[in-house]
Amino acid sequence: MQKNWWKESVVYQIYPRSFFDSNGDGIGDIRGIIKKLDYLKYLGVNVIWLSPVYESPNDDNGYDISNYHKIMDEFGTMDDLVELINEIHARGMKLIMDLVVNHTSDEHEWFQQARKSKDNPYRDYYIWRPGKDGKEPNNWRSNFGGSAWEYDPDTDEYYLHLFSKKQPDLNWENPKLREEIYKMMRWWLDKGIDGFRMDVINFISKVPGLPDGKIKPGETYASGSKFYRNGPRIHEYLQEMHEQVLSKYDVMTVGEMPGVDVEEAKKYTNPERKELNMVFTFEHMSLDSGPYGKWDLKPLMLTDLKENLTKWQKGLNGIGWNSLYWNNHDQPRIVSRFGDDGKYRVESAKMLATCLHMLQGTPYIYQGEEIGMTNIRFDSIEDYRDIETLNLYREKVIVGNEEPEQVMESIYAKSRDNARTPLQWSDNPQAGFTTGEPWIKVNPNYKEINAKQSVEDPNSIYHYYRKLIQLRKQYPIIVYGDYQLLLPEHEQIFAYLRIYQDQKLLVITNFSEDNIPFELPVDVEFSANDLLISNYEMNDNNFNKFILRPYEARVYLV
Ligand code: NOJ
Repeated sequence: MQKNWWKESVVYQIYPRSFFDSNGDGIGDIRGIIKKLDYLKYLGVNVIWLSPVYESPNDDNGYDISNYHKIMDEFGTMDDLVELINEIHARGMKLIMDLVVNHTSDEHEWFQQARKSKDNPYRDYYIWRPGKDGKEPNNWRSNFGGSAWEYDPDTDEYYLHLFSKKQPDLNWENPKLREEIYKMMRWWLDKGIDGFRMDVINFISKVPGLPDGKIKPGETYASGSKFYRNGPRIHEYLQEMHEQVLSKYDVMTVGEMPGVDVEEAKKYTNPERKELNMVFTFEHMSLDSGPYGKWDLKPLMLTDLKENLTKWQKGLNGIGWNSLYWNNHDQPRIVSRFGDDGKYRVESAKMLATCLHMLQGTPYIYQGEEIGMTNIRFDSIEDYRDIETLNLYREKVIVGNEEPEQVMESIYAKSRDNARTPLQWSDNPQAGFTTGEPWIKVNPNYKEINAKQSVEDPNSIYHYYRKLIQLRKQYPIIVYGDYQLLLPEHEQIFAYLRIYQDQKLLVITNFSEDNIPFELPVDVEFSANDLLISNYEMNDNNFNKFILRPYEARVYLV
């Protein structure tokens, strides 16, 4: 297998709005990030992924960009950003930026031009269609609820928006648009950034004709996703992007790809095809959702999780490359989701980290994960800020007359605001995030859960992550080893082997709050028992037969 720096990296994601506020306006900013770089360096990560900091009206917190070449005022200036790049590089780390090019903001100059008239030169940068029988051009639902089309009375046509109506989709069929995007990407890479995380990049090619989807019983709109995910020209576009831009730099690329499966991921990440380095799959993040999508809650079956992660580990091995993540700015906090955010918060956070970080792939840590931050339960919908959450509430409770309590349960479990409460730096007011009024309330548990406490306590989750990162740097088996699942049918234990040259790694994790007997299957050859890491005091040395304590994790090397 070919060795690359991005395979050996650990990435830390910063959601700037909630990271650290340096000027007291209640909103995190670039100077705030610069102030905290030593905290990240000490943690040991070597790549930072920065969520969008470009100019934006913030309908979707920066994922609606109105100018790709400017920095949002609230976050600072271009000089601040250049300083951030320099300070990151001075510490031997790298920076990847978010690339949001499935759509722009409706306030982007291109769209402002496009909506002026049907013959405006920018019209074809977006996807416009006349109505059908006085209604929308097709029945697709927007990913943020409601129709995916917005009527423009001035030109008597609709434009497509797979997200909010302030995020019109770009028309990648237009070669001029593609050239503009590539130019913009080169402009950023020439500024010295080290790669891109590409927002819903597998949505950019739509099936011609934009056919209707199938409406589920009880719903008004259909998911059009099979007509825009991994669409007919997606690989062609990415290969063109590679040729025109990526191949000219030593960069790291990761594509966010809802609805990607292993077979498609092989195509996206096989280096011979010259597309991307890795993708974010959503499959393991949907195992606790029912048929009606993310708000349709369902308990996780550990066997499903194991089966899924195993499929990805084996499927991409030697062909492409995996990204490994539990959290990001769109997902609830993992310790509240697959762990226990009460009695066993520390143990389960460490266990989940072990399970993920010992896999093959590039691990991603989302801000606050390294201190075990938890989900939030705001009493009132008024305290939520996320457009997806607010749209859901309006659609279900205000328009749909559903019981607010039930809808709030879904919001507590899955709202994106779970990940967006400010990073808890200390037990000072507002968790030390700001001296002002934060744009979204802090989680009241910051007195116990905060970075200051975590850095000071050698047994903290933070120090455990540090150790996991160090182990990855030290042992190539963790990066490159083959993977083999053990005990596939077990409902509580997730155990696997990694195999590399003459070494083996045995990873054993307990996903339950019970004491569970573990027994190494007899056909597994594993002899010596060098304990690399564990999340409990050890009082036995039996790697092949012992009782796993609640959320216990152990890693042995031979
Ligand atoms: C995925 C991003 O991660 C999410 O935050 C955003 O709302 C959508 N793409 C639309 O850009």
